Amino acid sequence: MTSVPSNARNRRSGRAGAGPGPEAGDEPVIRPVRRADLEQVIAIDATVTGLEKRKYWASVFRRYGAGRSGDKQFLVALAQGRVVGFVIGEVRDWEFGSPPCGWVFAIDVDPQARLAGVGSKLLSAISVGFRRVGVRKLRTLLARDNTLILSFFRSQGMTAGHLIPLEMVLGGAP
Ligand SMILES: CC(C)(COP(=O)(O)OP(=O)(O)OC[C@H]1O[C@@H](n2cnc3c(N)ncnc32)[C@H](O)[C@@H]1OP(=O)(O)O)[C@@H](O)C(=O)NCCC(=O)NCCS
Repeated sequence: MTSVPSNARNRRSGRAGAGPGPEAGDEPVIRPVRRADLEQVIAIDATVTGLEKRKYWASVFRRYGAGRSGDKQFLVALAQGRVVGFVIGEVRDWEFGSPPCGWVFAIDVDPQARLAGVGSKLLSAISVGFRRVGVRKLRTLLARDNTLILSFFRSQGMTAGHLIPLEMVLGGAP
């Protein structure tokens, strides 16, 4: 279990919400997820997305949960013994013609615990894990209209990369 220094500005006192978030002088702890955390992870995700995806989270835990190698990470933030956020990511080697890089594909903080540095600490912790396995670049994808997550990643130093996403609807019979 590690308490990870934030790479963001030190502006935590008095910023936490009224819920289970970190209070002044009460640094959240970041550690790998455990099975017993899953209910709280599912609840936070359901608060953010409006969907309770139990099968999905069981499968994510199997693939990224505790005991996995350093290139797959599923970390939680705890404040006063409660899960208040999580981040999930993995190293992808040579995909899209790119040298190994660390992808963050989920980050969520309990709405009651936001704006207190939890998200920054989670991103910092997963970055430390990626650096430990030799990765030097962090990537993520986000919805164009999700200005909250965009503001957060920008605040952490992330900028537009050189890859662009492409997609199309697969019509016709299966
Ligand atoms: C984005 C999110 C992870 C940020 O978590 P957090 O713990 O509140 O983040 P921090 O307190 O570490 O904030 C760091 C910086 O992010 C930016 N930021 C965070 N919330 C913001 C907001 N509501 N508006 C503008 N900027 C914001 C700020 O620059 C902030 O620094 P500051 O407080 O010094 O201004 C959290 O809001 C969240 O879970 N949102 C929903 C995420 C989501 O949509 N997930 C689905 C896609 S993966």
